[in-house]
Amino acid sequence: MENYKKIINDIYLEIKNIDDIGKVARYIPELATVSPDNFGVYITTIQKDSFGVGDCDKKFSIQSISKVLSLTLAYRFEGIKLWDRVDVEPSGNPFNSLLQLEADLGKPRNPFINSGAIVVCDVLVSHLKNPKKDFLDFCREIANNPTLNYNEKVAESEKITGYRNIALCNFIKSFGNIKNNVEDVLDFYFHICSLEMSCKELSEIALFLANDNFTTHKGNKVLTNSQAKRVNAILLTCGFYDESGEFAFRVGLPGKSGVGGGILAIHPDKYCIVVWSPKLNLKGNSYKGMLFLEKFTTKTTSSIF
Ligand code: DON
Repeated sequence: MENYKKIINDIYLEIKNIDDIGKVARYIPELATVSPDNFGVYITTIQKDSFGVGDCDKKFSIQSISKVLSLTLAYRFEGIKLWDRVDVEPSGNPFNSLLQLEADLGKPRNPFINSGAIVVCDVLVSHLKNPKKDFLDFCREIANNPTLNYNEKVAESEKITGYRNIALCNFIKSFGNIKNNVEDVLDFYFHICSLEMSCKELSEIALFLANDNFTTHKGNKVLTNSQAKRVNAILLTCGFYDESGEFAFRVGLPGKSGVGGGILAIHPDKYCIVVWSPKLNLKGNSYKGMLFLEKFTTKTTSSIF
């Protein structure tokens, strides 16, 4: 841990004031209100050692990083049947693309692009009595953190500007791969995207993907070890949309980004690390976040490769 601390501090200072070519997401108006200068990092090891710098305790909109948690819960309910509804192939397309769905007859390429996450939300709406409350309870149990919550302003802001997601959901429904009411599925989807966490909280909630022996404070295992392996595999191949290859190439860890500027990266059997910096590159991934993690796994020689 001492080694990690020094390296994190050094990289933080090295890149804090670099010329950041990214841009804060504006297509969800509420996200544009966040200061672009926020920059935080937090690491939690499977031994529960931890360390953070900068804005690591400030809550931010985790956006697509929530797709890891929704997939996890849907996988628990459905097991391998889930893969009849959503595939596990990289899409090579932007996260909100409609392009492949027609040829693929409404079966999204993977659960980490918007179309796939919307199908996962439909699965959860079928299983959960009170989807928004039950999903939040699930997150709070894994994180052992009753303060986790949605940001209603962000959810509402996305609802009134979410033309692409509305189109995706209706289009998939036309193929029969959305079973519930489109408005209900989208309301749930916009809410899970609006979940707020700090870098610290996010690094803690993901520990079940790094630690084979993880159980919640209530004694529940979140996924079987084989399921956790598979989620990590999809994160590695699909967690950064059409930049997943680039992230694997530069950083070498399974991970997931969100348009709020967060990146979660997991080193199985070692740690979870989260970086938050709101300015995004052209593919919608945090510019500084990727740069930080590339330097971190290089200096610590701790990628999975
Ligand atoms: O559906 C959307 O467009 C957003 N709520 C989430 C997108 C996202 O975070 C993709 N990230 N890179």
